Amino acid sequence: MPVLTVSQLHKRFNLEAGFFARFGRFVNAVNDISFSIGKNEAYGLVGESGCGKTTTARMLVRMYEADEGQINYHHGNNSVSVGALQKEELRQYREKVRYVFQDPARSLNPRMSVYEVLVSGCRRPLKKRGIDEKELRQKAAVILEEVGLQAADLEKRPSEFSGGQRQRISIARALLVEPELLICDEVVSALDVSIQGQILNLLLDIRKKRDMSFLFIAHDLKVACYFCDRIGVMYRGELMEEASAADLYKEALHPYTQLLFSSTAKVTDTSAPTAGCSFAPRCPQAAERCFREHPAFNEIRSGHLIRCSHAAANIPSANP
Ligand SMILES: Nc1ncnc2c1ncn2[C@@H]1O[C@H](COP(=O)(O)OP(=O)(O)OP(=O)(O)O)[C@@H](O)[C@H]1O
Ligand SMILES: [Mg+2]
Repeated sequence: MPVLTVSQLHKRFNLEAGFFARFGRFVNAVNDISFSIGKNEAYGLVGESGCGKTTTARMLVRMYEADEGQINYHHGNNSVSVGALQKEELRQYREKVRYVFQDPARSLNPRMSVYEVLVSGCRRPLKKRGIDEKELRQKAAVILEEVGLQAADLEKRPSEFSGGQRQRISIARALLVEPELLICDEVVSALDVSIQGQILNLLLDIRKKRDMSFLFIAHDLKVACYFCDRIGVMYRGELMEEASAADLYKEALHPYTQLLFSSTAKVTDTSAPTAGCSFAPRCPQAAERCFREHPAFNEIRSGHLIRCSHAAANIPSANP
């Protein structure tokens, strides 16, 4: 049973502002993305810088409005269209679907104490549930300990903490309202490599302890495979491959996914778009038709989809 279903999501940005906007240079940041996140599942979105991961995630919480497409949130037997949510409903939805940002330095208000940071966004909803200030403080202390800090840290300021500790505070803030889905947008990439592992292990602990789902965004495919159940690989706003993390790790079928596994460098793509496959200009296996025909996203094995006509034609099990 999914907690969130995303279908045919589109978002384009105008690259020119003001007067020049009418000349219309656009980037299709998200181009027909569909996926779903199961209950208690960790779904990974992976791809190089600029492929549209953050834009996708922001549309899920309506920080950006989608140009086209549907986002449905499933809760019990109910299903709601996220795009149609009005003020109070949207606020409630955002308690259920929480967003942790990449940069812990900028996402925490330096003038607030850690306690204020934790409760500022959720005092009202928690009070509505009958939780008073004393209980709220206790709850905040418990969450802070869950993420590896101490109750006494509630009185400190975010600036007194290291980057890794600040990211723990961001995670605690997101957990305080007991969300059903946590969106982790590159939550480790701003941190030192030595600290990244600690934060990943914390998230794994949280996964084990709590009934919740994750959208885990990363540019490092191996990190995503380590954390996630299923993964969608994005390139230029499109999903190129989707499979269980285990299948993907064992045998990536799309040439782009293979490239991501082989290189650790973060690359920004600058090739010109083609009428065919968006990856064709960089693809070591590209044939002439790849530049002409836009490949469909097809299920090639059970639960394993790729957008590559070349690979699809060469996989024996695809044509039994
Ligand atoms: N607010 C915006 N205005 C204009 N263009 C934008 C905006 N946000 C994103 N873009 C463009 O949309 C594309 C996708 O950006 P996005 O931030 O979603 O990528 P990303 O996969 O999250 O990259 P990164 O790994 O660097 O965080 C990029 O070409 C980016 O320049
Ligand atoms: Mg991003």
